[in-house]
Parts: sequence; structure tokens; C-alpha cells
Amino acid sequence: MAASADTTTTTPSCTLAGRIALVTGGGSGIGRACCQVLAREGAQVVVTDINLQAAKHTLTLLPGGRQHVAVAMDVRDRSSVEDAMKSAQDQCGASPSLLVNCAGVFIGGAILETDGDSWKKNIDVNLTGTFLVTQAFATSLLENWNDPKGAVVNIASIVGKTGFTNRGGYTASKGGVISLTKTCAAELASKTIRVNCVLPGSIDTPMAAGRSKESRENLMRLIPLGRTGRPEEVAEVVAFLLSERSSYMVGACVEVTGGKAM
Ligand SMILES: NC(=O)c1ccc[n+]([C@@H]2O[C@H](COP(=O)([O-])OP(=O)(O)OC[C@H]3O[C@@H](n4cnc5c(N)ncnc54)[C@H](O)[C@@H]3O)[C@@H](O)[C@H]2O)c1
Repeated sequence: MAASADTTTTTPSCTLAGRIALVTGGGSGIGRACCQVLAREGAQVVVTDINLQAAKHTLTLLPGGRQHVAVAMDVRDRSSVEDAMKSAQDQCGASPSLLVNCAGVFIGGAILETDGDSWKKNIDVNLTGTFLVTQAFATSLLENWNDPKGAVVNIASIVGKTGFTNRGGYTASKGGVISLTKTCAAELASKTIRVNCVLPGSIDTPMAAGRSKESRENLMRLIPLGRTGRPEEVAEVVAFLLSERSSYMVGACVEVTGGKAM
């Protein structure tokens, strides 16, 4: 067996120094927290969002000042995705080698009442968006080959694994993200791009706001830790999965749920 370097005693504090990380949905919630944690870890961050103003606001929250950039991207639209990838490459001087697919929408509704439009909105942003951005990212990285260690983290959801009442389109889109993660992981590992995903439970973000008192109380009963999560608690796991500290993890689905739906 080949000897490998002992890294246990040489843990760097900046795990992502020198890397370029692109985050979709970086203008809010979990995506914004990912941008903050990745910047703290030393990455140059490309904050993308359909809402450019929100992405620019995230920039103001990042340590490391002017090295970071904000770019508009609608993940549903192939040409918007490709233009944003090119713009990121031009502004950073190299292709991003780290990607967080976080842009998402939640359109609820019972299966018997779900119309084609709300079904399509969930699928277009959450699943097709993840596919389009991953494809453009991997194509750009492999064409330019400026960093031999790519990594992708997809933000799925625990309900993509379990299903949940009154959210059929959303759960199907996130179940699709889980299986897309595994296929991308299998195809891209040999090209030195690791792909994994995170399954958050109930996290306090604008997407989750507006729950009634009753539904919040019901929710708490399902979470062994007895509280909802903070966006940065997801972002810390994302940073780990993007870093070389997780160098043997491929196609994994990591649950960040406070124990909900184990
Ligand atoms: N909050 C939770 O409890 C929770 C739980 C599980 C999974 N998630 C997932 O985490 C991700 C982030 O969710 P959040 O809670 O931070 O939500 P959020 O609403 O705070 O942020 C979502 C971001 O995505 C952006 N976005 C929406 N449509 C887009 C598009 N077409 N192109 C580009 N950007 C677009 C929005 O502008 C927004 O900035 C989503 O994929 C969501 O499904 C959230």
C-alpha cells in the first residue's frame, strides 16, 4: 500500500485558500451563509443570484474585500448560466473549481391540487437549474484545467429522501437532486471533480418564514434537537465537503437536520 502524507497534525486554518468558489442563490439564506463561510476559509467567492442586488449585498458581508464578485444568473436559463460562468472566469482570471448549487424555490401544494405551473417552477429551478449549472461549471473547469481538484455540493433537502405531504413538486425536485448528485459523482470522479450533496432539515431562512405557530410547534416535535437550524450550520458542512478534508467522499448525502427524519 502506498504511503500517504500524515495530515492529522498539519490542519490548515484556511482550507480553501487560492480556490475560486461559485455559489448559486448566494443572495439569501443558506447560499449567503455559504458565501460567508467559504470567504472565511480563504476562497475567492463568486456570488450569483437571479436577484443581482441581493448578491451585491452579500458581497458587502464577506471578509476579504474586493476579491469577491457578484454576477446575475438565472439557473433555469442555459444562456444566463453560460454567460455568468464566462463572466466569473473573466473577472477572476480562471474558472471556478468549487460550486455550491443552492438556488431554490419552494412551491407547496397537495398532489391532487398541484397544477402544471407550480410543478414546473419547483422542477425548473431546483432540479434543471442544478443540472445546467453543474454542466456549465464542469465544462468550463475541464476546458481550462486551472485547478486539478474540483468539488460540487448540491443543496437538496431531507424531504427529497423521505417525501412529505403537501409538497409533492418540491420533494420530487429534491429527490431528483439526490439522484443527479450520485450520477454526476460517478461520471465526474474520474475527472477529479467530487460531487456530494447536503440534505438540510428545517433551517431559518426567508424561504422557511411564514410558518404558523401551530405548524412551528408541530415541527419542533419532529426535531430531536428541539430547534430549527441556522444557515451557517449548513454552510459549515458545505465548506467541509468542498475542502480536501473530505477528499474520499463522493456521492454522499449528508443530513443536517438536528435529527429530524433519521
Ligand atoms: N430553509 C430550509 O428550511 C431549507 C430546507 C431544505 C433545503 N433547503 C434548500 O436550500 C436552498 C436555499 O434555500 P433558502 O432556505 O436559503 O432560501 P432563500 O429563499 O433564502 O434563498 C433562495 C435564493 O435562491 C435564489 N433564486 C431563486 N430562484 C432562482 C433562479 N431561478 N436563479 C438563481 N437564483 C434563484 C433567490 O433569489 C434566493 O436568493 C434551496 O435549494 C432550498 O430548497 C432549504
